[in-house]
Amino acid sequence: MSIINKAAAIGGGVIGAGWVARLLLNGIDVSIFDPDPEASRKVSEVMKGARRAYKQMVPGGLPKEGKLTFAKTIAEAVADADFIQESVPERLDLKHRVLAEIDAHAPANAIVGSSTSGIKPTDMQVAMKKHPERLVVGHPFNPVYLLPLVEIVGGEQTFPEAIEVAKEIYASIGMKPVVIRKEIEAFVGDRLLEAAWREALWLIKDGICTVEELDDIMRYGFGLRWAQMGMFQVYRVAGGEAGMRHFMAQFGPCLKWPWTKLMDVPEFNDELVDLIATQSDDQAHGLSIRELEKIRDDNLVAIMDALSKQNKGKGWGAGALHKDYTRQLAKLAAKKPTASKAAEKAKASKPVKKAEKPKKKTGKKKG
Ligand SMILES: NC(=O)c1ccc[n+]([C@@H]2O[C@H](COP(=O)([O-])OP(=O)(O)OC[C@H]3O[C@@H](n4cnc5c(N)ncnc54)[C@H](O)[C@@H]3O)[C@@H](O)[C@H]2O)c1
Repeated sequence: MSIINKAAAIGGGVIGAGWVARLLLNGIDVSIFDPDPEASRKVSEVMKGARRAYKQMVPGGLPKEGKLTFAKTIAEAVADADFIQESVPERLDLKHRVLAEIDAHAPANAIVGSSTSGIKPTDMQVAMKKHPERLVVGHPFNPVYLLPLVEIVGGEQTFPEAIEVAKEIYASIGMKPVVIRKEIEAFVGDRLLEAAWREALWLIKDGICTVEELDDIMRYGFGLRWAQMGMFQVYRVAGGEAGMRHFMAQFGPCLKWPWTKLMDVPEFNDELVDLIATQSDDQAHGLSIRELEKIRDDNLVAIMDALSKQNKGKGWGAGALHKDYTRQLAKLAAKKPTASKAAEKAKASKPVKKAEKPKKKTGKKKG
């Protein structure tokens, strides 16, 4: 169950609203700040989709939702929060301004997670004059309310305790925290995605395939393998009985052949943007983004549900976590009538561990 008493979301766009949805659906109160006058409407659209998906995951009834409050300032939003997730646009100057304000007003023991897709935490925490040690990158994947992965990255000033508390916090809301061992730009997930994206742009630009054909090649082929085993385990099996060593002996040398254009980036000119946008419109067959979101969510729930029944009923990969998460939500829902006093009491007596400064700093970078 969650160890968060009250959360704050700074930024309520695609990702911020996804965090809000995951937190509220876990029964956690959230205070949000977003200067966009449309923010409330956009968040409620995302909430509708998230509720719909969670109803499929927990058919017996959902936990009592947390309360959402729109704050007028960052200071107001973070005032009594013990977990704050920043999801403002990907610009270092903006991240600095927002993190400085969060840091100035948040309780000293609150953990601050940043949703950044690739900025190093060391480069962001310099703006936090009071408690830079509590900043972690908590990089999620869209839709945040369904996809469990969160990459956790610490910066030079982040304390190991903050990483540990962040791990507990994210796990308590049904996520799979993976701590990245060394701080690099774009971490691991986006490094991989960017390599594939760059190659895909070339394939479209050079007229080798359309966006729809490229997506078909992924979703009818290796995309299905990736969702359940990832890359290395799939290759191990592809090596036949001799496994990974045989696979590497056979295919390792091919990497030297001029198969890919990986390090070159095609110029993002109007011609390329038009080509991709037009082909993408054709591929959508008139379905709106909201309709595609519903299809995506239904499919994701179905995939995780199917994986939860594998491995002799124990679940496999994301399916094993999905099984635990849906059970946790059902248990929380069963507590509904007495809500919330007991829960509040339990929470109050069990505050989130503090990321206090240890007497002696134990090392700079996370290992
Ligand atoms: N979109 C993705 O797939 C994705 C995935 C993982 C991580 N991220 C990261 O999440 C972060 C947010 O991305 P997004 O896709 O949600 O962007 P977005 O443009 O959809 O949303 C950003 C929101 O921040 C708000 N905002 C702007 N200035 C603000 C301020 N000073 N204080 C509070 N809110 C402010 C905007 O009004 C907007 O609603 C970025 O760092 C991005 O790299 C994005």
